Amino acid sequence: MKLLIYTAVLIKIFFFQLVIADELFLKGKNIFLNAGNCSTCHSLKDANSNANIGPNLNEIRPVFERVYTVVLNGAGVMPSYQGILTEEEMKAVSFYVSESANN
Ligand code: HEC
Repeated sequence: MKLLIYTAVLIKIFFFQLVIADELFLKGKNIFLNAGNCSTCHSLKDANSNANIGPNLNEIRPVFERVYTVVLNGAGVMPSYQGILTEEEMKAVSFYVSESANN
């Protein structure tokens, strides 16, 4: 009986996390296309963007920390998003890019 409850709890936690990840992904995608304007400079298949001012994100396949660092600090002509996006939004767009660039 205990094992059954334990398994049920684990399954719930697993699905709950999937839902959160899904929401974060969609929120990040929306920022990529709109508030962040990332799509005006970067190609990314999932976002249907074909710009080439910055590197093609499907080619460099950056992990979360790499995206977050550049979004926070900027690089070359890429602006820093501090004061433009909230910390939560910067994390969402970084999550979205790191997840979607690998597909
Ligand atoms: C004005 C054009 C422009 C916009 C807008 C822009 N970028 Fe960039 N991005 C660049 C350029 C140019 C580079 C290359 C910078 C360099 O290395 O000199 C770059 C680099 C990057 C890199 C690679 C960093 C590395 O470590 O090599 C990532 C990831 C990235 N951008 C993500 C984003 C995201 C996410 C957004 C939106 C929040 C965004 N960019 C908005 C132009 C842009």
